[in-house]
This record gives sequence, C-alpha cells and structure tokens, in this order.
Amino acid sequence: MIPTIQKQNGHPVLMVGGKPFALLAGEVHNSDSSSPAYMETIWDIAAQLGMNALLLPATWELIEPEEGRFDFSVPQALIDQARARDMRIVFLWFGSWKNAECMYAPAWVKQDLKRFPRAQIEKGRNKAGRQVSPTIPIKMPYTTLSYLGQATRKADAKAFAAFMGFLKDYDSEKQTVVAVQVENETGLLGAAREVSDEADALFAAPVPADFAAYMRAHTDTMTEEIRSAVLSGRESGSWQEVFGEAADEIFSAYHVASFVNAVAQAGKAVYPLPMSANCWLDKGGRPGSYPTGGPVSKVHEVWDFCAPNIDVYCPDIYVPQFKAVCDEFTRRGGALFIPESATHSYCAPRLVYTVGHYHAMCYSPFGFDDIGKPFTAVQGFLFGMDVSDPALKTPQRFEEYAAFGQILREMMPRLAAAYGTDRLQAVSAETDPPVPAPDGNPYGAIPPTMDFRTFRLSVRFQGPMNPRGDGVCLCLAVSDTECWVVGSACGLSFLSADPEKPNLDLLQVEEGRFEHGAWIPGRRLNGDETASLSLEAPAVLHVKFFTYE
Ligand code: DGJ
Repeated sequence: MIPTIQKQNGHPVLMVGGKPFALLAGEVHNSDSSSPAYMETIWDIAAQLGMNALLLPATWELIEPEEGRFDFSVPQALIDQARARDMRIVFLWFGSWKNAECMYAPAWVKQDLKRFPRAQIEKGRNKAGRQVSPTIPIKMPYTTLSYLGQATRKADAKAFAAFMGFLKDYDSEKQTVVAVQVENETGLLGAAREVSDEADALFAAPVPADFAAYMRAHTDTMTEEIRSAVLSGRESGSWQEVFGEAADEIFSAYHVASFVNAVAQAGKAVYPLPMSANCWLDKGGRPGSYPTGGPVSKVHEVWDFCAPNIDVYCPDIYVPQFKAVCDEFTRRGGALFIPESATHSYCAPRLVYTVGHYHAMCYSPFGFDDIGKPFTAVQGFLFGMDVSDPALKTPQRFEEYAAFGQILREMMPRLAAAYGTDRLQAVSAETDPPVPAPDGNPYGAIPPTMDFRTFRLSVRFQGPMNPRGDGVCLCLAVSDTECWVVGSACGLSFLSADPEKPNLDLLQVEEGRFEHGAWIPGRRLNGDETASLSLEAPAVLHVKFFTYE
C-alpha cells in the first residue's frame, strides 16, 4: 500500500507502510535541494536534530528545462540520500506558483507571454507595482502567471504528472517520498482578483450554479466573514451579486483552487500520493495584501469544492499567534500539517506541543539548518521581532531541538499509535498560561493540566526552572497506572482523577532514553528528585503510580 491519509480513531493520520507516521520534519531553504552535493551537510544536520523527513523543493525549471524534455536526476539523487539515512521526503512542487509569484516556471514558460499570460492586477499590464504595506510608500514590481491561463494549467499539470510518474517508477516500492505539496503559497498579490478583460467578463458572468449551491449548503463551517457574505448574497447571479463583499476573493480562490486541483489530479492519476497545499496566512489583512485565492482558512470551503484532489491545507506559521492559527486550520477536523514555521525559541516546544496536542501530521521548521544561529534581518522581520515576548526574539537552541527531536523520533511509533485518542496530550507555556486566581494572588494561579482517565498531570511553567518561559510537557498514558512524560522547563504534579480513589502515590519514576525503540533506563528518581518533580532540560520519564481511597 502506498502512503495514504486515513482516519485513525476519527483523526486523519498519514499512513506509511501501513502504519501511522508523523513527519518530524524540516524544510530546507529554497535553493538547497537544487544541489545534492550541497544537501550532504543539510541531511546530516537534520539527522542530528532528530528529523525523520525533509521537505524539499522539486522545481519545474530544473525538471523540464525545455518543453517535453524531463530531467529527474536531482530528485533521484535526493531520494538516494534520504534512503541512505533512513529518512523520508515530502517534495514541494514549485510549479506555476512560488510565494504568489512564478519564479520557478521554466524559461520557456516565462518568455512566452502570449501562451502563458501573466496576471493583470492593473488592466493591460503584465508587471505592475504593488503596495506592500499601507504605511510604506513604495511599490514593488510584481508579476505572476494568470490563474486563468488554460495553457499554463495544462503545461504545469503535464510536468507534474511526469514528475509523479518518475516517483512511481523510482520509489513506489521503497516509498521514501510520502507526500507532495502542489505549488507553493498560491494566490495573487496586489489585488483581490485579476482585472484583465477576460477576468472582468468571467466576474460579471453567472457564478456556476453548483458552486453557488455548495457554498449556501456549507455555511455552518464557514468563518463569519464568508458566511455573512454568502447568506446576504443572491442565490444566483454575477459573482458580485452572489458573494457581495467577499466576491473578489472567492472568485480568485475558485480559479486558483481549480488550477491547483487540475495539477494535483494529473499527478494523482499517475501516482496517488497524499497531496497538500500550503498557505501564506492572511494575518487579518485586506485581500491583495496577502496571496488572495490561496488556501487561507476563510476560503477552505471554496477549496473543498474546487480542489478535491488536495488532501490537506497547510499553514506556514511565522506569526506569533501560533495556537490561533493551528486552531483555525484544524477547526473543521482536518489534520495539522505545518510545512514551515519559525526557528525562534518556541520552535522545539512547538514540535512537542503539536505532536502531543494536535496529533500533528507534520511539523517542520523552515531553514532548520539556521537553528542555533543568530537571526538574519529577514528572519527577525518574519518572526515578529516587534512583539514583546522575548522567546520570539531568541533563536532556538540547537541542542534543545536535537534532544526533543531524538526523543520524539524514537517514540514516534508509540506516539502515532495514540493519535486520535485522549491518551496523548500536551501543554506548553506559550499556549496554556495559568488561570489567574480570582483574588489576583500570584500564588493562587491555577496551572494547566492534562486529564486522563484515572490521573491528572498538573504542569507549572512559572518559576525558577523556566526562566525563558518556553516550557512544554507531553504525556502519553500507557494505562491507568503508567505513562511517559516528555518535557522541559516545567514542574510536574501527579494527581488522582478517580473520585472513588482520590489519592495518588508514585511507584516508579525513571529517567532514561530510547535506543532503536527500546527503553534504556537511567537513574531511578526518588526523594528530593520526586518530592519536587521537575524537568529542566528536555527529558523523558517513565512513570508508574497507583490511586487509592
Ligand atoms: C515562505 C515560502 O513558502 C518559503 O518557500 C520561503 O520563501 C519562506 N517563506 C521564507 O521565509
């Protein structure tokens, strides 16, 4: 069976070799995977960080340098490198879109403006100035391929199908490649929709009846903004009449998603690996200030209708509001698949948290080989350095990520088997602040807890063991009397959750490590070490206890 997405305990899970699999991954910088030689050290860093997979661009320009002439030597070499290290790959198809632009289209596509038209954000212009921010009085030159270009869609789909054909031939047996992202951060910048004569005519024409009906039938899951636009619009008519205020964005989403679906469909017809679409978040901005038409959460219903071949929508998370974004992308029961995220000091805690709390399909810091290095100016800007939280301004420590990565990689079969159950939970300092005491007494604040069938684990992130405020704790219950705890910078209290047996005593607390999946115990903790049980640096504990009257 090839890699697939299946429900396990009602939760969508990536199955690899018939077993649930979580991608503890990293995405490389855009240009790295164009050179297998350059990648040698990058793979080594990934292995040190405990990663089990890499997200690697596979670019249209290198795969089809001349129309109809394909070259798969680079992806083939990358697959060989992954196999040599027992790692997996998610390829990122940089085709017609890369960050709402078309820089990875081959030269023969870029240069043929007639056959492969550019999007017009100003009527009649192939390249226009787009205002990046309302407060910065500069216009950046902008161009991208039109989402209405039928020849572009066909050519992209043909190239992608050829790529999937190569994967099928070279990899369907070993299954090193477990998923493919179709395009990268799709959408249009600078305007909410294209304004060519063709686009204007389509926008004024009636909305396809099946799509209008679908949108009216799915208002229950929609965000408020789209729901109210749909409910206050007409049942049929032009895009403006049916979708009112949201018409431009829904029009763009309809055409972008249909384009991406055509590419995905052509690929799946050859080799049906799970396929994803990643997203440059809207960050509450106005359409056009973010790639409009891309799979931001408010247009997921549009994408559902137009892109049934896309299995999962993925947020690229650089903003500080991490939990809000994860909740937004999982609110309709979808899997959490984060292909890109920031490398500040919440990076490793978020790895643990997304696995433990969201039962994530993928967590992947972008440019992970930068972990441990001072931020560049661009990273500082991207990661929200203007905020007050010091953890967002501090680079992730390499050893800390490596320690968590190794622990989770070793534990992955156990963790993934618990996906979709409440046996696996997590809390973090970033996402679960203590509930303040009603009288404001700082000592009375209630710390976050994880509640299991017979026990409760209460986790304190405040205090001397967590000076940086970026602690995290994951708990995997093995039974009513036994669990694994992974965490750092936290204090732990085990309590009974059984009203019949309200007392709990610890029986065994072991520190240790996993090697090839087997537990190698270290110290047996007791006395001072359990009287005030805490984890300062990343560690795993094996805990046994019992409850009594
Ligand atoms: C988001 C894109 O999807 C990535 O390819 C990369 O360009 C990053 N931004 C850069 O931070």
